[in-house]
Amino acid sequence: MKINKPPAPAPYSILCVVGARPNFMKMAPIMGAFAALGSELDVSLVHTGQHYDVAMNHQYFEALGIPQPDINLEVGSGSHTTQTANVMLRFESVLNKWHPSAVLVVGDVNSTLACALVAVKKGVPVIHVEAGLRSFDRAMPEEINRVLTDQISDLLFITERSGRENLLREGIAEHRIRFVGNVMIDTLHHNLRKAVSVSQILQNAGREAFLVGHDGYAILTAHRPSNVDNPDTLRSLLETILKISVRLPVIFPVHPRTHDMIQKFGLSKMLDVPTVLQLPPMGYLEMLGLMKDTRVVLTDSGGIQEETTALGVPCITLRNNTERPITVDEGTNTIAGLDSAKILTIFDEIMLTGGKAGRIPELWDGHASTRIAAEILCWLKNGFKSN
Ligand code: UD1
Repeated sequence: MKINKPPAPAPYSILCVVGARPNFMKMAPIMGAFAALGSELDVSLVHTGQHYDVAMNHQYFEALGIPQPDINLEVGSGSHTTQTANVMLRFESVLNKWHPSAVLVVGDVNSTLACALVAVKKGVPVIHVEAGLRSFDRAMPEEINRVLTDQISDLLFITERSGRENLLREGIAEHRIRFVGNVMIDTLHHNLRKAVSVSQILQNAGREAFLVGHDGYAILTAHRPSNVDNPDTLRSLLETILKISVRLPVIFPVHPRTHDMIQKFGLSKMLDVPTVLQLPPMGYLEMLGLMKDTRVVLTDSGGIQEETTALGVPCITLRNNTERPITVDEGTNTIAGLDSAKILTIFDEIMLTGGKAGRIPELWDGHASTRIAAEILCWLKNGFKSN
């Protein structure tokens, strides 16, 4: 464990926690909005080290201008229990020395729940950004993390109105909930101009000619255990992608888990075709550049469902559910599950019509983090009471 900075004297202090890739783009604008508040609030960043590779970690900090973590718990990979337990043990020793006014967690990864649980047991109030999302699928590790984190949070920021209903149904007091919009979309707005072009990405990969003679491209991302940990499921998914690639070349940034599974199940030869380009995990600005100009994204990611809606790009979700229903009701997202025929039908429809028009959801305006920082300061000054 590395500690780079002791807490600074300030009337109020917040420990912000990140652990894995999807946390980084959520925390970036929140850190920026706190910095804009000035010296009333001492804000420190804890990285649990759940993700540690350059591709999954360092390049995000750099691209998004996130300050270097003040504390790194360096937990690394492991089973869910090992990972969660290690974060808890190490975070407890941080809280034994630091006495923040509150701990702020984002999203739904193992680090989110682990740090929230340690904080609440030590009597430190918990703030959860991106609360209230529910897939109603308890087989998803993230769903367990969401439900439990929300139960023990004192202040809950939601991205869409469905979150309020979900939280109220689970007995969360209404005065703890704030509808502020989506910090992921703040990050998207801040960075859209800096997005790396597709031609640059292809050039960096030494594959300048990949799209020559084609009218656009599709993107695939897949990393959910339910999609990639079973050989039959993964093979069937890749077969569907091969069919799609005959119509539209597919760019496939491969998550480390998926990469390992493709190797383990002996499926790497399947993707050895000229119309599928496998790449290492993309940096944020590269992924943004790819998504901005694609004709369609096929994904099992939660964040990408939101980003495609914000960009007005068609998204086919390779899951049977979504915890982000607004992306389907108002955005460009269609839930396909893993049924090959269904995926291909939706794909054909998108090729024919360009997909759903969609509209930008309420408060996805690039200012969610400013609203969050203001609400938190007010809440701290009111002695953790709501207005
Ligand atoms: C985690 C999150 C998931 C999120 C995803 C984004 C949980 C429960 N899941 O899943 O919600 O969508 O991150 O990536 O917290 N690995 C590396 N390098 C790294 C990190 C991981 O190679 O920097 C490999 C390890 O072999 C590891 C595997 O990837 O076993 C999975 O990593 P892990 O953090 O357990 O979960 P993710 O599948 O990444």
